[in-house]
Amino acid sequence: MTQNYQLKTLDDTKLLAKAIAKIADRNIYLLLSGELASGKTQLTKFIGAEIGVTDVINSPSFVILNQYQTKYDWKLIHIDAYRLDKKNDFSEYFELTIDNFTIAEWPEKVNWNFDKLKTIAITFKVDSDIRNLTIATNNLTSEAEQTLFADIK
Ligand SMILES: Nc1ncnc2c1ncn2[C@@H]1O[C@H](COP(=O)(O)OP(=O)(O)OP(=O)(O)O)[C@@H](O)[C@H]1O
Ligand SMILES: [Mg+2]
Repeated sequence: MTQNYQLKTLDDTKLLAKAIAKIADRNIYLLLSGELASGKTQLTKFIGAEIGVTDVINSPSFVILNQYQTKYDWKLIHIDAYRLDKKNDFSEYFELTIDNFTIAEWPEKVNWNFDKLKTIAITFKVDSDIRNLTIATNNLTSEAEQTLFADIK
C-alpha cells in the first residue's frame, strides 16, 4: 500500500511519528530515503520519544548503527548508512536487528534484502519549506497497515 503525505511543520512530523509508533514492533523496518537534511533523523527522534527511548538519538559522525532501549521488550536499532560505501559489508549487523524495531536512514546503501521483510519505506522530497513524502508498506499485517494509513489520512 502506498500513500502520499505532506509535512508543513514539525507538528506534522510528530503526527506521522505517533502513527508509526503505534504500529512499531519487533521485526519491522522503517526505511527513510531522501536528500540530506530532509528530516529523516527528526522523524526518528519523534518516534523514539513515542516508544520510550530516553537516550538522546543523534546522527553520529562515524557510527553507522546505534541501539536504544524502548519501553517495550525490543530495542530500537537506528542505522545511518550515509557513510557506507560498497567496500563495507554490512551483512554481519543484520543479526542485531532480529526481533527488534529498525529505522534505517540511507537504506539504499545497506546490502540487505528488504524484499521479504516487513517494511515501511518513506521517501522525502523537500520543495521549499514543504516536505513531500511517499509512504509504502510491504509485508505488514493488514491490521497494522490499516491502522497506519487511517492515522495519516
Ligand atoms: N517537518 C519539518 N519542518 C521543519 N523543519 C524540519 C522538519 N523536519 C526536519 N526539520 C529540520 O530540518 C533539519 C534537518 O533534519 P534532519 O537532521 O532530520 O535531516 P536528515 O534527513 O536526517 O539529514 P541527513 O541525511 O543529513 O541525515 C533539522 O534542523 C530539522 O529540525
Ligand atoms: Mg539524519
